[in-house]
Amino acid sequence: MWRLHLVAVVALSSCASADRASPTVDLTTSVAPTTSIASVTSIASADGAALFAADSLGGEAGCSSCHSMQPDRSTSGPSLAGIGTIAATRVAELGAEHYLRQSILEPEAFFAPGWGAGMPAYSAVLSDTEADALVTYLLTIE
Ligand code: HEC
Repeated sequence: MWRLHLVAVVALSSCASADRASPTVDLTTSVAPTTSIASVTSIASADGAALFAADSLGGEAGCSSCHSMQPDRSTSGPSLAGIGTIAATRVAELGAEHYLRQSILEPEAFFAPGWGAGMPAYSAVLSDTEADALVTYLLTIE
């Protein structure tokens, strides 16, 4: 009788691990299962909000580890509260969209007032689609 019980337990546990293997998650790079937000490889590349919230992007720190969306709350980077509007005012010849794209891909081209170097360049780790998705998302932050 105990043998049958053991078989049932083994069958149940293999079933549970199959459930965890969601097809959208890249198991070779995803982080520990206790972490709620996985790395960029498991996020639909067009979802700018999820990209912003990710713990890491292609090995670089995730945006939200340095940027808050709360006004006046600086961490390792400036608050991005209102950035969708502010972006248009930063560099005269750059529109908001262009400024945001440059901020992400070449952060050293222009520093936000009061800040110096400190943000990694994401030009090597983000695809065009991902950069577009992040810019589109940041433009919505009023
Ligand atoms: C290690 C910390 C760090 C990470 C990670 C980081 N940033 Fe930054 N970011 C900074 C710092 C410091 C500045 C200010 C200097 C500058 O403008 O480059 C900045 C500036 C910016 C600005 C310009 C803000 C303004 O007011 O003009 C934007 C937009 C921005 N970051 C977006 C992002 C996005 C999107 C990501 C993720 C792809 C990201 N950052 C990841 C530290 C970081």
